[in-house]
Amino acid sequence: MMSDFATKVVRNVDLGRGSFLIEFEDPGLGAAMRPAQFFMIGAPGGDVLLRRPFSVCGLPGTFDDATPGTLQVLYRVYGRATSLLASLGPGASLQVLGPLGRGFEAPPAGSDVLLVAGGIGSAPFPAFLRELARERRPASMIYGARTAAELPLLDWFKEHASRVAVTTEDGSAGTKGRVTLPLAEALAAPRPRPLHLYACGPNPMLKAVARLAVDAGVKCDLSLEAPMACGFGVCLGCVVPVKDGATGESRFERVCVEGPVLPASRMAW
Ligand SMILES: Cc1cc2nc3c(=O)[nH]c(=O)nc-3n(C[C@H](O)[C@H](O)[C@H](O)COP(=O)(O)OP(=O)(O)OC[C@H]3O[C@@H](n4cnc5c(N)ncnc54)[C@H](O)[C@@H]3O)c2cc1C
Ligand code: FES
Repeated sequence: MMSDFATKVVRNVDLGRGSFLIEFEDPGLGAAMRPAQFFMIGAPGGDVLLRRPFSVCGLPGTFDDATPGTLQVLYRVYGRATSLLASLGPGASLQVLGPLGRGFEAPPAGSDVLLVAGGIGSAPFPAFLRELARERRPASMIYGARTAAELPLLDWFKEHASRVAVTTEDGSAGTKGRVTLPLAEALAAPRPRPLHLYACGPNPMLKAVARLAVDAGVKCDLSLEAPMACGFGVCLGCVVPVKDGATGESRFERVCVEGPVLPASRMAW
């Protein structure tokens, strides 16, 4: 159930190149959270009025070196709120609203799992990978970014996914190009078992991934980003067009309540 709680930063680890993993005290929500659910996080006393949305990255059991009783959020510094977050040290106060939205559902039994991440869009996948591992469901990953510096936790993913295909647009790591290159290859390969895709990253990437998945007839869940003022369904700032399941007509849904995870087949971009 959603709660608005005050908590304290335990660690705020600088991963380099503008990415951080912040750890804060869990008031007991972690055990019931789904990967890809999110929090609205603010730093009281700072000059940033609106809280910002961040996916849960680490749940209890995700990171072996986590402080017991904490949750983790992976973030990249973009503007004022994320700069303020990056300046916080152990003991700093946070005001957190969550858990919010609908997270990733477990893949159907008997299917192979492929995760597709773009840059900081990898944030929801550590918790999901560890959950899949507990269920003995191996998952492969395609992890892409503009450049090698924008692939946080790459070594962790290499350790915990069964295979990681890396792409960068400038060729500084992995294959030069976008995630859609290895994804198109994976979708064209013979499939003894059904494939289930999960994708998170910038919206242009998600649109391209969705198109490939739908054309290949492969089930794909997208964790979407949208501008969010409230995070709990009131302001309507986060709506996206989707196809109505019954009529096929286009209508709007709120990324913060009906999402952030929506099936690629329902998007009406
Ligand atoms: C459901 C959800 C989950 C999210 N999870 C995470 C997460 O786990 N980790 C994380 O780092 N971010 C996540 N985001 C994005 C995050 O909320 C924004 O990066 C944050 O709000 C930026 O706030 P800011 O004040 O620092 O930047 P702003 O002042 O709001 O923006 C500064 C500049 O950066 C641009 N910008 C802001 N955010 C992004 C972005 N994501 N991509 C590209 N350009 C951007 C803006 O357009 C603007 O030009 C999530 C967003 C949603 C909707
Ligand atoms: S962020 Fe306010 S309705 Fe979704």
